[in-house]
Amino acid sequence: MPRADDSDHTDDHTELMALAVRLARGAGSLTVRLRADARADGRGDGGGDGRADGRGNGRPDGGGDGREDGGADGGAEGRGDGGADGGANGGAAGRGDGGAEGGGDCGAEGRGDGADGGADGGSLGVAVKSSPTDVVTDVDRASERWLADELARLRPDDGLLGEEGAHRPGGSGVRWVVDPIDGTVNFLYGLRPYAVSVAAERDGQVVAGAVHDPTSGETFSAALGAGAYLDGAPIGGRWVAAELATAVIATGFGYDAGVRAGQGEVLAGLLPRIGNLRRLGSAALDLCYVAAGRLDGYYEHGLKDWDRAAGLLVATEAGVVVGGLRGRPPGVLTVAASPTVAAELTTLLEELGADDIADLYG
Ligand code: IPD
Ligand code: CA
Ligand code: CA
Repeated sequence: MPRADDSDHTDDHTELMALAVRLARGAGSLTVRLRADARADGRGDGGGDGRADGRGNGRPDGGGDGREDGGADGGAEGRGDGGADGGANGGAAGRGDGGAEGGGDCGAEGRGDGADGGADGGSLGVAVKSSPTDVVTDVDRASERWLADELARLRPDDGLLGEEGAHRPGGSGVRWVVDPIDGTVNFLYGLRPYAVSVAAERDGQVVAGAVHDPTSGETFSAALGAGAYLDGAPIGGRWVAAELATAVIATGFGYDAGVRAGQGEVLAGLLPRIGNLRRLGSAALDLCYVAAGRLDGYYEHGLKDWDRAAGLLVATEAGVVVGGLRGRPPGVLTVAASPTVAAELTTLLEELGADDIADLYG
């Protein structure tokens, strides 16, 4: 919540927001470029086939159809155990055990605006983290490295926390919290959207943030006390559904199978009581979409600071109601909803025992 002295810092917050926007866009461009490079690599060394040993269900000839651009060579990804190479182009990533380089072509993005093109040739370099479904690519790491280097150059006294391990204590009172790709699974599969999320905290409070989606070119931003923006134009106060029964609600699922089972139970109770459901694949954008009135609400268990720091500020500055259950602030459970449906959504989640899932996170 805004503090009493926020107004004293508003200019400062706005400057931090401007930098967050530049950083998120710069890292987003890098992800697009690296995907295009990966695709080019894949073509260079045998494109078009490849995926025979990857996942086995790629298109026999490298596709070349389906996706307008990036997907020049079809095959989803050379995924699967041992899909290390997954075919030169067929696959996005050669994910799976040892799928370090995998096939290329997520074919995903770059569509329409040519934002990102498909990645071929297995250069996405996929590894797994907390579970086999919790993946990270070389592009996530490169994006975070670029953000860290830029921050070290521009604001050497600030601290940094990044999802992929970037950490610097800093001494200025400002700490940057970054998610170099929020929506890695989408990125890997060539789905939209994904985002780069950059937030700045001052003395532990998020005061500025930006969420940039390279697949659409959109940038959401916010500064504490100074509003929320989409590509520089103010957002907020535009709510669609008047009640939960017609509301479009988004959610996400964790990488742990046990947690997902619990999430599924909550969802089963929720589905008949809402208008419809979306699972977009990027928590940062889910929050921004509620801010922009593209969703009526969003909830998810187990978000980390890098997933939600910037998006929550965009949401609160846009007038979205943000919290946890039973009057608590966002914690293990994050709920963000338009003022028109927030109370109903929160009450229903409480009735459905969403707190019990939260307990699974310890
Ligand atoms: C994930 C995405 C996803 C959400 C997961 C997050 P990542 O972030 O935001 O939508 O459901 O909880 O971990 O792993 O792609 O950075
Ligand atoms: Ca994330
Ligand atoms: Ca991430």
